[in-house]
Amino acid sequence: MISAIYDRRSIRKFLDKPISQEDIMDIIQSGAKAPSSKNRQPWKYIVIQGNAKVEMLKVFRQGIEREENESALLPQSKQHIPAAKYTVDIMEEAPMIIFVVNSLGKGILSELTPEEHIYEICNIQSISASIQNMLLAATEKGIGSLWICDIYFAYSELCEWLKSDGQLIAAIAFGYPDEFPKERPRKKLDDIVEWRN
Ligand SMILES: Cc1cc2nc3c(=O)[nH]c(=O)nc-3n(C[C@H](O)[C@H](O)[C@H](O)COP(=O)(O)O)c2cc1C
Repeated sequence: MISAIYDRRSIRKFLDKPISQEDIMDIIQSGAKAPSSKNRQPWKYIVIQGNAKVEMLKVFRQGIEREENESALLPQSKQHIPAAKYTVDIMEEAPMIIFVVNSLGKGILSELTPEEHIYEICNIQSISASIQNMLLAATEKGIGSLWICDIYFAYSELCEWLKSDGQLIAAIAFGYPDEFPKERPRKKLDDIVEWRN
């Protein structure tokens, strides 16, 4: 497990090789073993492959176009649109995408009371743990992955296409790696740990 933590990389080039149904199920099972606040298990996983992936990419690109030219949901993030386009190209190469939904989540535009806010934060922490479990399970199988939040550049379009109750949280691209990147820089522990004895 520790070697999977150290060996995992975000993979942005994939081989044209499918992932077996058994491996997909194993990866999702690892995701569903994550701890969750009050054991609410707020996750739902939508597996996208084949023609569904072609449709989804079209919808994603339409959303980015709307974000660029019409009513932007993220007007202060326009400088990240080229990176979002690159993310969609990566997703096109990946044989399998999993969308992760917070089945208990409200929309990103809803007003929340402090209590609802905390409930949401706890559910999102639970889902993040689930996503990380899936990335580590994939790494252990030699399958590469990319955690994707550029979905927010086509948020309403993707939610409408997915037709899923709850709040879309992230996508993950999976596939056999066609690149083996070095470890990306990390902050030094001295800069991020504070000891209070
Ligand atoms: C919440 C989250 C969202 C991310 N969204 C994207 C994304 O949309 N596109 C992308 O190329 N990488 C995305 N990444 C990958 C990060 O860029 C990557 O984890 C970071 O640069 C460190 O590299 P590493 O994963 O290889 O250690 C995301 C990672 C996280 C945790």
